[in-house]
Amino acid sequence: MTQFKAVLGVGGGIAAYKAAELARALIERGFSVQTVMTEAAQEFVRPLTFAALTGNKVITSMFGARSADEVLSSSVEHISVARDNQILVVAPATADLLARFAHGLANDFLTTLYLAFTGPVLAAPSMNTAMWEHPATQDNLALLRSRGVHVMPPDSGPLACGTTGAGRLPDPERIAAYALRLLLQRHDLDGETVLITAGPTREPLDPVRFISNRSSGKMGYALAEAASLRGARVLLVSGPVNLPPPDNVELISVQTAAEMHQAVMAHLEEATIVIKAAAVADYHLARVPPQKVKKTAMRLSLELDPTPDILAEIGRRKRDQLLIGFAAETENLVPEAKRKMETKNCDMVVANFVSQDGTGFESDENEVVMVMRTGETVSPPRGQKREIAAQILDQALKLRLALHSKS
Ligand code: PMT
Repeated sequence: MTQFKAVLGVGGGIAAYKAAELARALIERGFSVQTVMTEAAQEFVRPLTFAALTGNKVITSMFGARSADEVLSSSVEHISVARDNQILVVAPATADLLARFAHGLANDFLTTLYLAFTGPVLAAPSMNTAMWEHPATQDNLALLRSRGVHVMPPDSGPLACGTTGAGRLPDPERIAAYALRLLLQRHDLDGETVLITAGPTREPLDPVRFISNRSSGKMGYALAEAASLRGARVLLVSGPVNLPPPDNVELISVQTAAEMHQAVMAHLEEATIVIKAAAVADYHLARVPPQKVKKTAMRLSLELDPTPDILAEIGRRKRDQLLIGFAAETENLVPEAKRKMETKNCDMVVANFVSQDGTGFESDENEVVMVMRTGETVSPPRGQKREIAAQILDQALKLRLALHSKS
């Protein structure tokens, strides 16, 4: 279901192909997308790519090959596109586009639209490092920022021109999340500090081997993104995952359960809400051999010790914090969640059924039951982890109100 309307302005840079991924990421976040391409952008990617992805006609020029009548009937198209959309996202924003925006030129559809657009504008620049650092570009950016344009600075790394430095288009997922954040007016987590754990832990067996599990971190990262979008300061304690951290989140990377335990305890006092979505290893090898264990023909047994139960310790130490645990279960979902809530002194336990295809570990979707201290259980329909994350936060705020009104 689309909730928001965005214009995606695509500039003529090598990163134009990544704008296709951005269109998809925006659609996944509930946007309908109207693409506008500069003439140069069309040298890099065909408009058909965007038309197919967005299901909307792509605007490629001010007048195109239209007849005089057609031009007259649609001569104010830039005004209607400006009026009908809530946000203008420009990616890649080339040095040329930034200059034309900054100096009020209206010499193609995108620059004319920019002048007519009264909603938020998000520019994601991408270019060669020397062009990015040039005083002309920096002055144009300063001018645009002073007029309220939101600018996502480019990432650093290897560039298409063969050099390395600042100039890479930020990850399209991050640009889409930023666009959503600009539109979401809900600030119901303003002033909160949410401490979230995510991903697996890795318990070494020797310098090259470890015990771990299938957690991808997607559930915890979705919670971090959702909490940050709603105004919270987010501390994300993450095991090793292959996900970029959401914007405006303080990432604390850890490997082992012991490191996760230490990081969580170090920040516990700052948190108003703690969410333990990580899949923490329950056992580890207490004495890890310093050298790689050699293969022999003999049977090898491992004697493992329990890791610290971080959730249980937070449950013992917590004062005012709202504590939300997760439970990955293959049977008896609700009774197990209730047992964990009692034994670990949680306020809510989010139980996932992890033996079902397409939910739980690694997948983009999840199906959960939220079991509350008040005795209530809430079972939202199966959905994207982002949607589930939003519902967990909604229920957390409702639960806190209910618990406070009781006390
Ligand atoms: O990361 P994804 O691929 O998106 O998958 C999501 C998920 C399935 C990992 C996640 O939603 C989930 O269920 N996380 C908890 C997994 C788990 O370890 O469950 P558990 O039932 O073993 O542990 C219960 C709770 O105790 C969890 O909140 C866990 O973080 C916590 N725990 C467990 C062991 C330990 N030593 N310390 C802990 O704090």
